Amino acid sequence: MSITEIKSLLQGIIGLNANTVGASNFERAVRHRMKICEISEVNEYLSELENSEYEVKELIEEVVIPETWFFRNQQSFIAFDSYIKDEWLVNNKEKKLKILSAPSSTGEEPYSIVMSLDKHGLGGDYFQLDAIDISTRLLSKAKRGVYGKHSFRNKENNFIDAYFDRIDDTFVLHEDIRTSVNFKQGNILEENLGNGTAIKYDIIFCRNLLIYFDRSTQEKAIENLCKFLNDDGVMFLGHAETGEYINKHLTRAKYARAFAYHRVPKENTKSKKERALSKDKLDHKKSKIGQKTTQTAFKKLLSSAPTGEKSLHFLETMEINLLDNNPPKNDKILRKVKQLADAGELKEASALCESYLQTHDASAQAYYLLGLIRESEGKQKLVGELFRKAVYLDPNHHAAMIHLALHAGRQGDADMAKKLHQRAQRVVKRNKS
Ligand SMILES: C[S@@+](CC[C@H](N)C(=O)[O-])C[C@H]1O[C@@H](n2cnc3c(N)ncnc32)[C@H](O)[C@@H]1O
Repeated sequence: MSITEIKSLLQGIIGLNANTVGASNFERAVRHRMKICEISEVNEYLSELENSEYEVKELIEEVVIPETWFFRNQQSFIAFDSYIKDEWLVNNKEKKLKILSAPSSTGEEPYSIVMSLDKHGLGGDYFQLDAIDISTRLLSKAKRGVYGKHSFRNKENNFIDAYFDRIDDTFVLHEDIRTSVNFKQGNILEENLGNGTAIKYDIIFCRNLLIYFDRSTQEKAIENLCKFLNDDGVMFLGHAETGEYINKHLTRAKYARAFAYHRVPKENTKSKKERALSKDKLDHKKSKIGQKTTQTAFKKLLSSAPTGEKSLHFLETMEINLLDNNPPKNDKILRKVKQLADAGELKEASALCESYLQTHDASAQAYYLLGLIRESEGKQKLVGELFRKAVYLDPNHHAAMIHLALHAGRQGDADMAKKLHQRAQRVVKRNKS
């Protein structure tokens, strides 16, 4: 009971849903702190937490997930690069670019942003980059700017020599990059981010934190961050951070595959009625900017992904494979289905796909596409069966397998979800070799 209360207490402060880090990990962290405090009863530790801000901070340090690396989720940085080159430098030559990295963890994300700007000749005088995190310990590490090889996990790390000195086993970030970031302790759930921040940013990076929150806290965080985003600003989220609540506050920006968003104007978030009215407008805008239904489906897929860094990392690496799972070039009808779906013409895509299936009832790809369409239509009940058929017809269809795994997870069948994930991983490996 008390562990549950400790979970709620922490969830109330930093938003962390303890289930996302695993109940045993959470309990281990609590026991560790109890040992340090020389407390043997959980109840007693709970009252310590209720009476000591210091102990709350220490427990927070213990439970936060610091996982990060340079140029993580590269698509965000590709999009950021396009934004700088094609929009910021063209339209805002005189202005200082304001960026927020929240949460920054040990600094790899904000420093990657600085390096991206440096490529365009934009040094510290041209921008203000604030980086916040709840953890003072992680922030101290960020300010030191000394990294191990674990911080470089992308295949291409050709920026290292330009920005780091190698000293023994460490990589020491150059001072001009290090001093371009203002690190501040803060809480993204709090008014003024808990540290008096009041400015509006042109760019906000909020990646790989919301996955550790429950739905209502995710929405609260997004709503809060939106207050700090300029009307034409761009917010980058992590690949797994999607869901209906996002559409209420954010609308996709034009950068494909980057999980980049603009703020929905305030009046559009006010009531259901107003949202319904604005939906048509948004749908139109979405199709105009070429948002892909297959990407939307992928987004939905990720939103229900089992959390935890390992599976997320797997899904990140799966993205390309999933999106590239196109119908064969010579299959004009299925390509048309996909094209229609990508343009948001779901009804037409669905009708064409269904009629195709009448004469091609052994086409795994058609069932897969219909599954994606149903997913985009929000018809979850029909989705599982369609992906199951696709996998049955083509046991190497990894994309259908991943969708099916996530569907099983959503239905609460964790064992099946795990098995399907493992199968999909094997298929990907086999396809690569
Ligand atoms: C997994 S890291 C993500 C870092 C980076 N954005 C990235 O994508 O690589 C999550 C970070 O969120 C921080 N954090 C957790 N709850 C927070 C909160 N309520 N406000 C601010 N930071 C928080 C943790 O301390 C941790 O450093």
